[in-house]
Formats: sequence, C-alpha cells, structure tokens
Amino acid sequence: MSSVEVDLAPIEPGQRITVKWRGKPVFISRRTAQEIEIARADDRANLKDPQADAERVVDPEWLVVIGICTHLGCVPLGQAPQSDRGGWNGWFCPCHGSHYDTSGRIRRGPAPLNLEVPDYAFLDAARLRIG
Ligand code: FES
Repeated sequence: MSSVEVDLAPIEPGQRITVKWRGKPVFISRRTAQEIEIARADDRANLKDPQADAERVVDPEWLVVIGICTHLGCVPLGQAPQSDRGGWNGWFCPCHGSHYDTSGRIRRGPAPLNLEVPDYAFLDAARLRIG
C-alpha cells in the first residue's frame, strides 16, 4: 500500500504518535504553541541543514517526519513523553548521538540532514494522508 490515512482527532496538543508507512516509522507531532515558537525562532540558528520551519510543515501545528536518523538509519527516541528528546526537545538518536529540534532539524551530532518530510496532505481538519 503506497499511502496511509491517519485520524488526527485523538491526538492532543503536545502528543506524538508513530505510524507505519511503506515499512518506515513516520513521526506525527501535534506541536504546542510554545514548540512552534521555538522552532520558528531557531530558523535563525546556525543550522547544519538550513531550512525554515515553515518549509517543513503544511500546518505549523502538525510536524510530520520520517522517523529514521539521517546518519545511519536508527530510529530516534522522543516519541514517548518520558523518552530522551535530546538537547532541543525534539528527538535524540542514541546510536551515535544526533539531536534533532522540534522541527526535526539536525542540531548536533553526526547526522548530516534534517529528518525527512514525506509527501502528505490534509484530507480535512482531522485526517491526514501520507504518500
Ligand atoms: Fe543516528 Fe548514527 S544512526 S546518530
């Protein structure tokens, strides 16, 4: 199956879920106003893979990224509330220590690129299609 539909209605602000798409984990993060603000402020940071937060989202409340570290392909931590989210409160890859921010951008560690944003579209306010 090349695309997957996700019901967003049960996801609370600040919550993250993982869905499978083409055998890969996709992280969906319903970002709080504070997380969005921080992600936008960090557009001006010294980014290894420069990209504005606005280029990485369709709706700023929803970040959708492939949950595979761009270094050597581990699945970063950060989906569970108590998990290690790294130094930028995004995701942390324990394999070799890559830190990603709330926009999924690489901030520290050996990963060369930001977490990849898959093709997706909103079917309505509470339904997302990935792929
Ligand atoms: Fe993630 Fe190496 S695979 S830091």
